[in-house]
Amino acid sequence: MTAPKLSLTATSADEATVDAVIIGTRQDGEHLVLAPGSEAVAAAFDGSLVDVLSTLGVTGKTDEVVKVPTMGRLAAPVLVAAGLGSGEATAERVRRASGAAARALAGTTRALSTLSTVDLQATVEGTILGAYRFDTYRSEPGDAPLARVDLASPGEGTAKEHRATVKAATAIAEAVNTARDFVNTPPNDLYPASFAERAAALGKAAGLDVEILDEKALRKAGFGGVLGVGMGSTRPPRVLRMTYRGPKARKKVALVGKGITFDTGGISIKPAANMDEMTSDMSGAAAIVATAVLAAKLKYPLEVSATVPMAENMPSGAAYRPGDVLTMYGGKTVEVLNTDAEGRLILADAIVRACEDGPDYLVETATLTGAQVVALGRRTAGIMGSDEFRDRVAAIAKATGEGGWPMPLPDELRRDLDSKLADLANVTGHRWGGMLAAGHFLSEFVPDGLPWAHIDIAGPAYNNGGPWGYNGKGGTGVPVRTLAALLADIADNG
Ligand code: BES
Ligand code: MN
Ligand code: ZN
Repeated sequence: MTAPKLSLTATSADEATVDAVIIGTRQDGEHLVLAPGSEAVAAAFDGSLVDVLSTLGVTGKTDEVVKVPTMGRLAAPVLVAAGLGSGEATAERVRRASGAAARALAGTTRALSTLSTVDLQATVEGTILGAYRFDTYRSEPGDAPLARVDLASPGEGTAKEHRATVKAATAIAEAVNTARDFVNTPPNDLYPASFAERAAALGKAAGLDVEILDEKALRKAGFGGVLGVGMGSTRPPRVLRMTYRGPKARKKVALVGKGITFDTGGISIKPAANMDEMTSDMSGAAAIVATAVLAAKLKYPLEVSATVPMAENMPSGAAYRPGDVLTMYGGKTVEVLNTDAEGRLILADAIVRACEDGPDYLVETATLTGAQVVALGRRTAGIMGSDEFRDRVAAIAKATGEGGWPMPLPDELRRDLDSKLADLANVTGHRWGGMLAAGHFLSEFVPDGLPWAHIDIAGPAYNNGGPWGYNGKGGTGVPVRTLAALLADIADNG
């Protein structure tokens, strides 16, 4: 899919010869108010615009998008009022309003947005994310996505700064869309070998060092977790490694993402209802691949490695069993009590491998537990890890608007992972604190003292409800924006 073409404009919103002009609306108590940037449009309506919109039932609430014919008052034939909600017009609200407007403008060629005067970066991101569509598998494409958007220049800052902001925000939003493409590709076409190849092609094009470990290489090196989980599938597992070495690299960041291309649960098979959603069980991997490529595009002064284990979790005569003991990469043994707790097994191998390179930080993300969705809902990721770094990542997740909340690893849960015969069991045998137990399991494979964060995105990675803000149905691309902001923060502050 091609993103809409965005460019800054100095043309006044009332004079622009575009197909539609987008303004922001807000709720102020009971009252509808117009967001900054809409002054010229309001003037063209002789001060009656708020009344006109109110008559149409416009309230300014979030996700509200109303189209109004301009009847010659503007050069553009259509005015689009996009709701920013009540309270402060935060970046995330601008992003969501821009996304909702872009979705509503499918079939329109060219629009001008005034939301860019409120927040340029958020408008760019929201517009590109909202215009995203995944049409690869349709024989008849629907309305063409919005093709072109003129961005009203913000009052503050220089033209050069604005262009740099547009460029960086475009790269970030396109990385999110890259992750979405991987997630949305069905599991008959996206399996470990094909996923690794597609990701490697992107990495190579961006100038990364790329290595794919196939099943033979994995056996030789002893990746027991990845091999165990992958055993039941006719499509063998892979581990993809990609490294970006930035100019004057200030820190080394190791990224790891869960790449289960389909999760049936294996022998501990899942119920049939909604099992199709497990096509998204490689969302962590998708985000990590997209972020590593983005790091090269934005030339962060960092070394960024991506270690991405990929496997298909299937039941079959060759599948691993509850009761098996796996010897993981690095030598620890794990008793498998539930083959559906597979993510942590492939991640453990990948974490140990990633840490051999001596990173300064380890960040790992995965659609790891249903318990995350129970605890925090569909839109807020659970973030665990070493206390300080976990809180830093959680603050950034919140600030980017993707959402995330710090979660503890309570001591008493750890012993519930004790095994009767191996170093560790892969599940606790009870359902309490399932997200935290998974975090505990992973922590056993993280070197002592390494700043580490684990982001459980089981809910946020995939939108199985209706479209909202800049998200359609399907893959959301979470947590690419958080990872990008984290890398930028580490580049700036160490
Ligand atoms: N991929 C699932 C977790 C998941 C659930 C992701 C729902 C997205 C939506 C994971 O592999 C899994 O099956 N986890 C089990 C763990 C349990 C067996 C300890 C779960 O959450 O039920
Ligand atoms: Mn599972
Ligand atoms: Zn899974």
